[in-house]
Amino acid sequence: YPIKKPVEQDWSFEGPFGTYDRGQLQRGFKVYREVCASCHSLNLVAFRTLEDLGYSEEQVRALASEYEVQDGPDDAGDMFTRPATPSDYFPAPFENPQQAAASNNGAYPPDLSLMAKARTAERGFPTFVFDIFTQYAEGGVDYVYNLLTGYEEDSHGHEVPPGTYYNPYFLKAASLAMAPPLSDGVVAYEDGAPETVDQYARDVSAFLMWTAEPHMEARKSTGFVVMVFLVLFGGLMYLTKRKIWAEAH
Ligand code: HEM
Repeated sequence: YPIKKPVEQDWSFEGPFGTYDRGQLQRGFKVYREVCASCHSLNLVAFRTLEDLGYSEEQVRALASEYEVQDGPDDAGDMFTRPATPSDYFPAPFENPQQAAASNNGAYPPDLSLMAKARTAERGFPTFVFDIFTQYAEGGVDYVYNLLTGYEEDSHGHEVPPGTYYNPYFLKAASLAMAPPLSDGVVAYEDGAPETVDQYARDVSAFLMWTAEPHMEARKSTGFVVMVFLVLFGGLMYLTKRKIWAEAH
């Protein structure tokens, strides 16, 4: 199978000063909730962290309570379900991976919490050296976007096993067990953003970047201060060295 390399996209969070676009994250979250969540879990994300997306504590509480989570055992030793609270994690849409695979032609829909960091592009030398300075980490998010928008009707003569869909961006086989999940108009946006596959894919990919790296902004701003400090400190050390090792007169 010819597997295509993801095409690089522009993201608000790229570069050493990049930040998430809250509006985009909220839209992406809506796409996850209304489309992806019927198959994919988000096991590592707690409802409380949704405050990062700009929701108030009250809104997060209300959002969480729309979900049922398992709890227990109670006094009688039984498990029970109750509405989620902000400290709970997103419940999976299936009982167990076997059950999830059984309803998807034997393929297990992977957890999406870390997907945007788990799938990264091979950059090779010397690009990866510059990547340290440009803080490049968008290989995975580009991949998710390209995967969601990369389905093709025509498989160009390549064999597509039954129950799979041709997608030259899928990193394993150019055909995968996930049917194209998005179509124009499936998710209603309240902020006037276009309700297109392209926009949905972009927004949900950005949302998955946030789930994979919720503290990216803090990391980048701390990193910048550290770099400035190291440069100044390096300069001072150099001057100190010159003074100490200067020839005596
Ligand atoms: C695989 C994202 C909706 C079923 C995947 C992968 C990603 C992804 C990133 C992994 C590809 C890889 O391993 O590199 C999404 C997003 C969705 C969505 C962002 C919403 C927009 C759905 C839905 C279903 C589904 C609604 C079920 C009807 C699957 C399955 C796989 C998969 C079965 C495994 C495919 C295979 O290994 O052949 N999805 N997905 N996905 N997804 Fe989705």
